[in-house]
Amino acid sequence: MDGIKVPEHIAIIMDGNGRWAKKLGLNRIFGHRNGVRAVRETVETCGKIGVKYLTLYAFSMENWNRPSDEIEALMSLLIESVIKETSELDKNNVQLRTIGNLSSFPENVTVKLNQAIEFTSKNTGLVLTLALSYGSRWEITEAVKKIAAKALAQEIEPENINENVIEQYLTTYGMPDPELIIRTSGEQRLSNFLLWQGAYSEFYFPEVLWPDFKKKDLMNAIDEYRRRERRFGKTGEQIKQEKDLI
Ligand code: FPP
Repeated sequence: MDGIKVPEHIAIIMDGNGRWAKKLGLNRIFGHRNGVRAVRETVETCGKIGVKYLTLYAFSMENWNRPSDEIEALMSLLIESVIKETSELDKNNVQLRTIGNLSSFPENVTVKLNQAIEFTSKNTGLVLTLALSYGSRWEITEAVKKIAAKALAQEIEPENINENVIEQYLTTYGMPDPELIIRTSGEQRLSNFLLWQGAYSEFYFPEVLWPDFKKKDLMNAIDEYRRRERRFGKTGEQIKQEKDLI
């Protein structure tokens, strides 16, 4: 990708594990296990091509409503993957982070996650963020609560609350907004993922089911992103003039 602009931040809704397994006549958990392979390949590719932030929707708040055996299997898979992959992530200079309401996770999962986060915290390459028990409405509600408490304590004037202030209370504070959001499996919904941060994102909805998502699918998504004109409310002429000035 030498000389080719890649998005600084890509966010992915990894969808279709269950359908992938069903097509093979196997159980959903088999699909999740194979989803880990796609995670590995995507992380590796993003690191190589110079993406700075990759955010993966690994477990939504709504996923707590799934059958308990599936939730347990997902938790085990998460611990197993984190334990198995931490040294590889570290070797590749990847920094692991999480966003979401981790307090709802079993302690054995959060202990392992926190160890991996601490272990990779000094790395300066790709920032890999796992959204775990994450939901945008929860995140925004938490931000509102904290800002309201500050206003009540007279530490901030309501008229001084602006977008920058709100961003400081979001779990993604310090990260650029994702330029590109991908959802696999043909579904075209955000499902409570990065609603604030995705205000100007480009969306890409390939038909491929997550376990089949390969390097070529990621490169197709980036190609498509590069073909689109991001206008941020401006006219096409304004964007052209700005480009001509560079
Ligand atoms: C959506 O497919 C996928 C999930 C809810 C879980 C994603 C988890 C992984 C890819 C594995 C673990 C992740 C890491 C980061 C180690 P679905 O079950 O909703 O599929 P369906 O829509 O076909 O039923």
